[in-house]
Amino acid sequence: MRIFFTGGSGKAGKHAIAHLIAQGHRVTNADLVKADVPGANFLRIDLTDAGQVFNAMSAYAGFDELEPGTGVPRYDAVVHFAAIPCILIRPDNETFQINTMSTYNVLDAAVKLGIRKVIFASSETTYGICFADGEAKPAYVPVDEDHPTVPQDSYAMSKVVNEVTGRSFQARSGIDIYALRINNVIEPHEYALNFPDYMANPARRRRNIFAYIDSRDLGHMVECCLRTDGLGYQVFNVSNDDMSVGLSSDEVIAQFYQGVPVKTAMGRDETFYSNEKAKRMVGFAPKHSWRDVLK
Ligand SMILES: NC(=O)c1ccc[n+]([C@@H]2O[C@H](COP(=O)([O-])OP(=O)(O)OC[C@H]3O[C@@H](n4cnc5c(N)ncnc54)[C@H](O)[C@@H]3O)[C@@H](O)[C@H]2O)c1
Repeated sequence: MRIFFTGGSGKAGKHAIAHLIAQGHRVTNADLVKADVPGANFLRIDLTDAGQVFNAMSAYAGFDELEPGTGVPRYDAVVHFAAIPCILIRPDNETFQINTMSTYNVLDAAVKLGIRKVIFASSETTYGICFADGEAKPAYVPVDEDHPTVPQDSYAMSKVVNEVTGRSFQARSGIDIYALRINNVIEPHEYALNFPDYMANPARRRRNIFAYIDSRDLGHMVECCLRTDGLGYQVFNVSNDDMSVGLSSDEVIAQFYQGVPVKTAMGRDETFYSNEKAKRMVGFAPKHSWRDVLK
């Protein structure tokens, strides 16, 4: 597929692009910042500017595309990862404005240009646990896609708005628009760097619902979504199968989730951030774990 990928210079995007290129896709990395992403064409763009987005999404991806003499090919899919990825990086109103307008522009351009699939990065923060003032507990565990999304912060609010925007563009166009509620992204080198601390201090993972997603498995999830057509508008949690702490699920419940209803029986190491829907609907099969690195 010919893929327009936004935010490919970032932490998650560069791994996802590497995965897509390894599967034989052609990828344009559209980002404000250039980074070394082997095999991808780069286009510098500010996605908050609708004119740039429409232009870039209807342009050649590289000089080689001039050769056939058949005009500009249409992108087969858009993967939209670009965003301000957290609170406290930019003023709250800027985070909200950049994230919501860039997503609106990307979806609007994709629909109007006849692109039939858009996959975009939403976030675990939509569930309102991550950036809550004080401690917020889930309404139930494991947290699945039916859990309420009523966050308190501008970043997560922008992601909830983006999901509504995506749902509306899907209703209008009938194309496939899949929102990925990505958990905390972990690059391979971060296991040795950060996980010993998570083992010693599991409370540090409370705001991530004790979950994580390996950056390579996130790339695999994008590929699963590209391969699976016809689902309309969907939201998927994206996480690894196990927790990011060494405690058992019973110990996590006893220490952190007293009084929280447990919706389904849980395995010893099972994630509290359910990825069952992604497995069932698009064949997500995460392969990696911190347990492969830290014995
Ligand atoms: N990293 C995580 O743990 C995590 C968790 C959940 C969701 N997400 C989401 O996944 C996506 C990727 O996150 P990341 O960690 O790779 O973030 P990142 O900051 O490393 O990468 C984001 C990229 O978006 C680009 N960008 C920002 N504003 C732009 C604009 N106006 N125009 C063009 N490009 C712009 C940046 O230059 C950057 O390269 C984001 O949407 C983020 O909200 C990330």
